[in-house]
Amino acid sequence: MISSERKKGFCTEALKIFVDFLFLSQTIERIQATTDYRNTGSQRVLEKAGFTKEGIIRK
Ligand SMILES: CC(C)(COP(=O)(O)OP(=O)(O)OC[C@H]1O[C@@H](n2cnc3c(N)ncnc32)[C@H](O)[C@@H]1OP(=O)(O)O)[C@@H](O)C(=O)NCCC(=O)NCCS
Repeated sequence: MISSERKKGFCTEALKIFVDFLFLSQTIERIQATTDYRNTGSQRVLEKAGFTKEGIIRK
């Protein structure tokens, strides 16, 4: 995403729509996501879209 368009809520809005689409169109009970552990921006987007942090995958 180009820097001038960041932190305007676009990624959160898009993710919420995608999550709704998946739960409404598929027979699923869970959606999971991973990020690099340093990527606090993506983690915040996931949190705002309703995801819950479950842990850190170690090597
Ligand atoms: C991370 C990224 C995808 C988020 O998209 P976005 O449209 O800017 O996100 P939103 O506007 O929906 O922001 C949602 C929340 O995340 C926060 N946030 C966004 N980018 C952040 C960052 N770099 N660091 C910390 N918090 C960040 C916002 O402040 C907001 O939280 P708030 O409501 O508490 O203030 C985007 O900023 C980006 O492209 N960043 C650089 C590249 C990158 O890290 N890409 C992902 C991995 S390849």
